[in-house]
Amino acid sequence: MDYKIVSFNFEICEQASILHASAFERPWSKNEFEILVTESPGIFGFKAVSSEEQLYGFILLQYIIDDAEILTLCVLENCRRQGIGKELIKTAINKLFIKDAKRLLLEVNEYNKEALLLYKSLNFNTYGRRKNYYLLNDKSQADALLLEIKLNN
Ligand SMILES: CC(C)(COP(=O)(O)OP(=O)(O)OC[C@H]1O[C@@H](n2cnc3c(N)ncnc32)[C@H](O)[C@@H]1OP(=O)(O)O)[C@@H](O)C(=O)NCCC(=O)NCCS
Repeated sequence: MDYKIVSFNFEICEQASILHASAFERPWSKNEFEILVTESPGIFGFKAVSSEEQLYGFILLQYIIDDAEILTLCVLENCRRQGIGKELIKTAINKLFIKDAKRLLLEVNEYNKEALLLYKSLNFNTYGRRKNYYLLNDKSQADALLLEIKLNN
């Protein structure tokens, strides 16, 4: 699959909201993405796009002082298992090295097997758990696992 990874930008917010809605139970609107990228402090991200600007995946992060956090990450369903998710995270980590960040954090649903395998493959460690953090559409609840990777500057 042919794609390039470049900075996430305002123009991709509509496609991002559509992809996000296909991947998560609680979708973020185009407007929420636009506010995030224009008005929120320390936000940056990357997108994987085709030569025609079709969005295959993206990652958004927030970096404040020493810690950065992955706010969201998703890859189009028929583009998964081709290394895009991993490359998006690695691109973000490279950027964080340049910014001198100390840690990269994220939270993930304890039952999100694919994401947990991806994070494990990148050597993230679990440092905490938020009980019943997610309320799912079927009204069941799930814990959030808190993961981190130390960035050795
Ligand atoms: C999680 C997600 C981003 C992974 O993206 P991806 O592009 O498919 O991941 P990659 O192809 O880079 O996978 C890298 C590694 O993660 C692991 N992995 C990812 N998906 C896997 C799966 N379905 N089964 C087994 N291992 C998997 C593997 O170790 C894989 O390496 P390999 O293919 O060489 O074995 C994608 O499944 C997704 O968008 N899910 C829905 C949204 C989501 O859950 N986001 C994360 C929220 S915290």
